[in-house]
Amino acid sequence: MTRHLLNLADAGGDAIAMMIGDAIDRKAARAEWPKGRPDTDRPLDGRVLAMIFEKNSTRTRVSFDMAMRQLGGTSLVMEGASTQLGRGESVADTARVLSRMVDAIMIRTDDHAKAEEMARHATVPVINGLTDQSHPCQIVADLLTVVERGKALPGLEVAWLGDGNNVLNSVLEAAGLMKFNVRAGTPQGYDPDDAFVSMAREAGASVSLTRDAEEAAAGADVVVTDTWISMGQEHAHNKLAAMAPYQVNARLMACAKPDAIFLHCLPAHIGEEVTEDVFESAQSAVFDEAENRLHAQKSILLWAFGLL
Ligand code: CP
Ligand code: NVA
Repeated sequence: MTRHLLNLADAGGDAIAMMIGDAIDRKAARAEWPKGRPDTDRPLDGRVLAMIFEKNSTRTRVSFDMAMRQLGGTSLVMEGASTQLGRGESVADTARVLSRMVDAIMIRTDDHAKAEEMARHATVPVINGLTDQSHPCQIVADLLTVVERGKALPGLEVAWLGDGNNVLNSVLEAAGLMKFNVRAGTPQGYDPDDAFVSMAREAGASVSLTRDAEEAAAGADVVVTDTWISMGQEHAHNKLAAMAPYQVNARLMACAKPDAIFLHCLPAHIGEEVTEDVFESAQSAVFDEAENRLHAQKSILLWAFGLL
């Protein structure tokens, strides 16, 4: 059966744990570059990933492209607006055509239903590179970052501050699958999706939603935030005032455990969701997290191709 990754549950907890282990091994092998010969097995030799972008990207685009190259394959980028999708060709027909030419499809879109439609009609793996609903690949990299900093996932206390957005939805999904706990501090009207909260709770994760930023951060092992204005919300400036109490600053980090790490999927808006001192502090793992997109993408691709 074709393996799609629209949300983390498509892979499940065991596969995510395997991805993290594989990514750690591949990252260690790559550290020898250019002296060593990492990824010598070139398991994706000859395979091509098509990447459809209906929204901007730096990390997702470069990490998937480099992951394919380092594993022996290649990728091609399709900017949504310049394809026939941008002129109204159906997602279903696009999926059927691409499936006859490429070996896998990654899609970044403003509408999760489009990614689902793509997967329904594609006969090659479809990977969610961010939708309005979720960002599963980001969270595989985030979990890798947490694990490589010596923190075990089961029982981990994760604090989310700010907007209850697509990234938080995937954090919640991961909490259920990997058995960690989430305390989300978000303003009224900006809660995460109920479906993701319920999914996490039903899977045994403790999820608490609070309006109190300090309560969310208290005793946390990991403090996470994201932009207050996601792509497609550029005119939602009225959000900024509501978000202000949830800024991750030194006072808030002091509520977390002394060895807590700070994560942000990037791009960051210094002075809004995070202050410069926290972003640049020793507790901040944001550039390891960004690098880990590359290592995680390899493991995600190998899983999607049935090679992991
Ligand atoms: N974090 C993330 O997805 O970054 P890009 O938008 O640059 O891909
Ligand atoms: N929540 C952000 C994540 C960017 C990687 C957005 O959707 O724009």
